[in-house]
Amino acid sequence: MPLLSFSRRFLIFSTVIPFLASIALYRLDTFDPALLPPNALDYSTTSLPPLSNDKLLTGAELIGVGLLNSPEDIAYHRESNFIYTGCVDGWVKRVKVTESVNDSVVEDWVNTGGRPLGVAFGLHGEVIVADAYKGLLNISGDGKKTELLTDEADGVKFKLADAVAVADNGVLYFTDASYKYNMRQFAFDILEGKPHGRLMSFDPTTRTTRVLLKDLYFANGVSKSPDQTHLIFCQTPMRRCSKYYINEERVEVFTQGLPGYPDNIRFDGEGHYWIAMPSGVTVLWKLAFRYPFLRKLTAIAANYGLDPLIFMANAGVLGVDLDGKPIALYHDHKLSHMTTGVKIGRYLYCGSLLHSHIVRLDLLKYPAQKRL
Ligand SMILES: *[C@@H]1O[C@H](CO)[C@@H](O)[C@H](O)[C@H]1NC(C)=O
Ligand SMILES: *[C@@H]1O[C@H](CO)[C@@H](O)[C@H](O)[C@H]1NC(C)=O
Repeated sequence: MPLLSFSRRFLIFSTVIPFLASIALYRLDTFDPALLPPNALDYSTTSLPPLSNDKLLTGAELIGVGLLNSPEDIAYHRESNFIYTGCVDGWVKRVKVTESVNDSVVEDWVNTGGRPLGVAFGLHGEVIVADAYKGLLNISGDGKKTELLTDEADGVKFKLADAVAVADNGVLYFTDASYKYNMRQFAFDILEGKPHGRLMSFDPTTRTTRVLLKDLYFANGVSKSPDQTHLIFCQTPMRRCSKYYINEERVEVFTQGLPGYPDNIRFDGEGHYWIAMPSGVTVLWKLAFRYPFLRKLTAIAANYGLDPLIFMANAGVLGVDLDGKPIALYHDHKLSHMTTGVKIGRYLYCGSLLHSHIVRLDLLKYPAQKRL
């Protein structure tokens, strides 16, 4: 008989030992997490929408099982009816949108040699990619040519180019989540709790990169408003998405007190934005954000094998209206690391940092309903 069951041994090696090591090494380690701004810790005004589906996975279909390795962002090309998504193996893949998921075919399209995250379409048939390691890329529509547009601003290199949106006039708006930590280390950026993120623009006519906002907390998803006057961008640990008015260069809150930590935001062309949340607010995240010493312990333990993202649970996608008012939440306790939600027709397509498929939910068959 083994002395310890496998799961016990696993727990000891993956959690207990790293935590004991982190306690022992606490004083020696220089990782220095900060307090978050007080409003990030205010849970009294969590904005829950009137409608909710608490079992996103029930009835959901899986697309491209085993062929889409961590499809982080999804962009839908209406004219060709293709979904484009960036995978962890460097591939931008595309999938024809079909009525039956069994008919969907996954195609390897272009490999960036990096980690494609944000995907959007340019005005001339090109695909714009925010690649975590490379920067902002322009891939020609035929997939034959990849050009680096920009990878630094104000003398500071991007370390985690994350999301991108294209305005009607061709200007690209994008985020760099962190100038300090790269994609493999991104959990440390969240644990450190300091603002290393930037919101930027790239004008293809002048080829200039401009910093619109700096000192953002893990600047993540970005979307252009349908009237083109402003951007919406998300700061993950702040549980907030903000508006940036382009002409006035002014920021205001769009939606805050979210029930989870926002990642990508996508406009559906029908009056709603969809905000993906890789994790809901959990007790562990609440404690960690309140107490920097817990984040320091977690960071040290992560160097000894603890997965700092064990805190992730109850992922989902929140639909909000043009004023940021929450309308409907689709989530599931069994789900984590959901990074994008895109509504195409009656379906919600969801990408993730963990799974090797896209999750699709029929919103007419499995609607969000009034809370009891
Ligand atoms: C898709 O394939 C699965 C497994 O082969 C099958 O159970 C399911 O009925 C199929 N769905 C449709 C809509 O054909
Ligand atoms: C991307 O490259 C194509 C040529 O392949 C060019 O026509 C297009 O204007 C470029 N787009 C941007 C945003 O630079």
